[in-house]
Amino acid sequence: MSDQTKFILNETDLPRFWYNINADSPVAPTPVLRPDTLEPVTPDFLSVLFPMELILQEVSTERFIPIPEEVREIYKLYRPTPLLRARRLEKALGTTAHIYYKNEGVSPAGSHKPNTAIPQAFFNKIAGTKALATETGAGQWGSALALACNFFGLELEVYMVKISYQQKPYRRLMMETYGATVFASPTDHTNYGRSVLEQDPSSPGSLGIAISEAVEAAATSGGKKKYSLGSVLNHVLLHQSVIGEEALKQMDMANEYPDVVIGCVGGGSNFAGIAYPFLRENLKNGKRTRLLAVEPTAAPSLTKGVYTFDYGDTAKMAPIVKMHTLGHGFVPPSIHAGGLRYHGMAPSLSAFCDAGLIEAVAVKQKATFEAAIQFARAEGIIPAPESAHAIRAAIDEALDAKAKGEKRVILFNLSGHGNFDMAAYEAYLSGKLEDYDYPAEAVQAAMAELPKVKMPA
Ligand SMILES: Cc1ncc(COP(=O)(O)O)c(C=O)c1O
Repeated sequence: MSDQTKFILNETDLPRFWYNINADSPVAPTPVLRPDTLEPVTPDFLSVLFPMELILQEVSTERFIPIPEEVREIYKLYRPTPLLRARRLEKALGTTAHIYYKNEGVSPAGSHKPNTAIPQAFFNKIAGTKALATETGAGQWGSALALACNFFGLELEVYMVKISYQQKPYRRLMMETYGATVFASPTDHTNYGRSVLEQDPSSPGSLGIAISEAVEAAATSGGKKKYSLGSVLNHVLLHQSVIGEEALKQMDMANEYPDVVIGCVGGGSNFAGIAYPFLRENLKNGKRTRLLAVEPTAAPSLTKGVYTFDYGDTAKMAPIVKMHTLGHGFVPPSIHAGGLRYHGMAPSLSAFCDAGLIEAVAVKQKATFEAAIQFARAEGIIPAPESAHAIRAAIDEALDAKAKGEKRVILFNLSGHGNFDMAAYEAYLSGKLEDYDYPAEAVQAAMAELPKVKMPA
C-alpha cells in the first residue's frame, strides 16, 4: 500500500464523459409534472426555462454523455481535483480506518458547484440565451454560476435569500466581482416577491421563495432569460459525476477501494457526484460499497420527510416531482449550513434511498462544527459548514471502525471550503450555536398542502 498523502491525476485524466445513473437505475423513473395541470411536463413547457440540450440530458438514458471540449477547457482551471488521505486526522482519532477525501474546495468559486455551472452556462450560450436567472442560499451556487456566466459572456441575475445576503456580504461581492447582479429575496421585482413582502415585510426569505422569484423572472422575460438550478435536477447530478469518476481512478492509485462513500446532501448534487459512479460499480460489478448521505437534523428531508409528489418551490411554479420532502412551504430554521436548507431532495436520490440502495443519516449542528474544527486542526482546511456534515459522519465511521478494531476505507466528499463562513465558526466558537430538530409534526402538517396527484405516490 502506498504511503502517499495526495493522489493527483493528470489533465489528460480529466473525464471525457459524464456518467448518467439513469442508464443503470434499477428503479423506474417517476414522471415530472406541470404545477398548473398536474400532467406530465413536455419539452415545450421546460423550454421556457431551459435550453433544449439540458432538457435532453434531463431525460436521457444514455450511460455516458460526452463533455464538450469548451467545458473541459474550463474544468482544467481546477480539475482533476486532488484526493487526499487524511493521515493526520486518522492519527488524531487513533483509528484503524483509512480516511480519504476528494477536495472540491479547490475550484475558483470554492465548491463543487462550478462542475454544473460551467456546462449550464455553455449549453445556454450555444442555444443563444443572453441572460440567466437563478437563486442562491448561502451564495456558493450564485458565485459558481457568476464565474461560469462571466466565462461565456452571459448576464446573470441572482436572487439571494435575504438572511444570507445580510450575513454573507463577501459572497455577494464575489458574485458582483464576476459581473452578476444580486438581489435580496424576497424582492419587489417579481409578483411573487411582492406577495411575500405584503404578508411579511421582514421575511428572511427561503430557498423556495428565491427559486420562485428566479423562475418567474425567466418565465416572464419573453425568452430573453433562462433559469438555472444548482442541484436536484438529473442534468445537474449528471454534471457532478466527474467527482466520482476521478475518485475511482484515484482510489485505484491508492490501491484501495472504499467500504463507505459519504457526502452531505442539500438537493443531492455533490453526494450524487461522488456516489453514483460507485453505485454503478455496486450494481454492475459486484462491489458492495455503502453510500451514506448526510443531512442536518434541522432540514431532514431524507430521514424525516415523506417520499411523495411535491412542488419544487414555494410559489408552485416549478415542476412537481416525486421526492423526499418536508413540504414546499418549509421555512428552514436559520442554521449555518445554508446550502442544506432545501425542502426536497433529488428524485433519483430519493428513489435510491427508498429502495435501500443508499443510506441516510441526520446530524446535529454543534456536533457538525465540532467535527469541522477537528478536521481543520488536523488537515488544515477549514470546511464549508455543509461539507462538515460529511466530515461528522466520516469521523463517526472511523470511530466505529476503531471500536470494532476494523480496517474500514472511508471516502468522503469535501464539497467546499469555509473561508467565507467565518461568521458561522464565530457563532460556534463563542458558544452561540444551538441544535435544532425539525419536528415530525410539522412535516405531517405540511403534507396537507401537497399537490393532489392522481398517481400512486
Ligand atoms: C459547499 C456546499 N456543499 C453542499 C451543498 C449542498 O448542495 P448539494 O446537495 O446539491 O450538493 C452546497 C449548496 O449550496 C454547498 O454550497
